[in-house]
Amino acid sequence: MALALYAPGLGYYANDSRKFGRMPSSGSDFVTAPEMSPLFGAALAVQVAEALQATGTDEVWEFGAGSGALALQLLQALGEKVRRYTIVDLSGSLRARQRATLAAYGGKVQWASELPESMRGVVVGNEVLDAMPVKLLARLGGVWHERGVALSDTVASSDEPVLAWADRPTDLRPALEPAGSHEYVTEIHPQTEAFVRTLADRLAQGAAFFIDYGFPEAEYYHPQRHMGTLMCHRGHLADADPLSDVGAKDITAHVNFTGLAMAAQEAGLPVLGYTTQARFLINCGLVPLLAQAGVAGRVAGQRLVAEHEMGELFKVIALHKGPFWDAIGFAEGDRTHTL
Ligand SMILES: C[S@@+](CC[C@H](N)C(=O)[O-])C[C@H]1O[C@@H](n2cnc3c(N)ncnc32)[C@H](O)[C@@H]1O
Repeated sequence: MALALYAPGLGYYANDSRKFGRMPSSGSDFVTAPEMSPLFGAALAVQVAEALQATGTDEVWEFGAGSGALALQLLQALGEKVRRYTIVDLSGSLRARQRATLAAYGGKVQWASELPESMRGVVVGNEVLDAMPVKLLARLGGVWHERGVALSDTVASSDEPVLAWADRPTDLRPALEPAGSHEYVTEIHPQTEAFVRTLADRLAQGAAFFIDYGFPEAEYYHPQRHMGTLMCHRGHLADADPLSDVGAKDITAHVNFTGLAMAAQEAGLPVLGYTTQARFLINCGLVPLLAQAGVAGRVAGQRLVAEHEMGELFKVIALHKGPFWDAIGFAEGDRTHTL
């Protein structure tokens, strides 16, 4: 997954394809919340402004900034409250797009290829955790295997090597044993958990807000979710075969928010709140923002909160370094107790 997404010159995030956009006709593969509606950033900015004040900081750090759309929305809404906006993104081609999008904020925006030893500020990341490589586990005949990738004996007509799954017994386990003895494929997220431990280590003061699709572990490892969550996206269609057209499509897995929260908490970055995207955005004042928008803006903005679109599947988790405060985004409908 790491090679398919990030191998220089070959990986999906290393090539110049368009990736984000509302419709396949633009040559894009999927739409994210800030690409769908600027009201996403406008509402999130309310929470970021409060967090900057509560933590006594004046810097924003964004992980995985895509086209730069969210950065633009936050910079527009936050104005002088932000002294510096730092983007950390693995993709060189996206960094170039971000520079173009954010040209008007040139002096304030900078890019970092790694985290400094110590940082202070408010961290945001939309749909970045789902792009972090996962490990696949398969329970076959009651025995857990790690699922890897091998070259197949089959030769394609094009003479291209054909990739195939290859399983071997492993001591790795999901955090919960899914009830039953049926065949079960799932993922674990050591890289995401390592990322959050590094963040806990480096963030001296501040808070972090991650927005992504996923569930707590009881739902993640539910007996019925026996095919896992690994998914590819291309041309606004989803498919479940990451071994074909490698590098030409995005590969993602849902986030296990319990695993993330536990790793963060054990590393000294406890949870400030956890809720659905719909709840969070409404708590941050999305409804009056929708009322001010035109018809097209309202339609797009409603997709952020509609239960059958992004409202329920997408969650927001916030972590904090420093004193706890009652953050506005979790004022009603906080679900931390479900983690
Ligand atoms: C699905 S896109 C989301 C883009 C944007 N946040 C949005 O909402 O439109 C994932 C982004 O995360 C970046 N990315 C993936 N793994 C990363 C990591 N470990 N650190 C920083 N950026 C990463 C990708 O290059 C890409 O910009």
